[in-house]
Amino acid sequence: MKIQIINGPNLNLLGTREPGIYGEMNFEAYLEELRNEFPGVEIGYFQSNIEGEIIDKLHQTGFSADGIILNAAAYTHTSVAIGDAVKAIKTPVVEVHISNIFSREDFRHVSFIAPYCRGSIAGFGLSSYRLALMSFIGI
Ligand code: DQA
Repeated sequence: MKIQIINGPNLNLLGTREPGIYGEMNFEAYLEELRNEFPGVEIGYFQSNIEGEIIDKLHQTGFSADGIILNAAAYTHTSVAIGDAVKAIKTPVVEVHISNIFSREDFRHVSFIAPYCRGSIAGFGLSSYRLALMSFIGI
């Protein structure tokens, strides 16, 4: 099984960025844990701060991967184009957020991506990614 994780802007700073909200672990360390925990799953990882690159990655992987785990970060709340890309591809997408976007500012309550996703997971810290992965595996 092939699962692609796509992280959006500022998530390259996980571990140092607002640790009270996003935690103290960087994503590479978490990814290593995830790969060890699910050795039977091929987990691809891509991070970009650029909207078009996220769209390109959705196009590249969205017809071959078994699942995509997408944290579009701030673009979640602004990007019609990323929402359209999720709608355009064949691979099912699960939207994830580390923080509980619904307990934060009003502008974070809107997602341009959620309507085209299989489901959304928010508020469980980095474990949001694990939960998304489990949803694809069926456990
Ligand atoms: C985030 C929530 C977004 O509102 C924010 O812009 C992010 C991260 C999260 O994972 O909690 O950058 O997607």
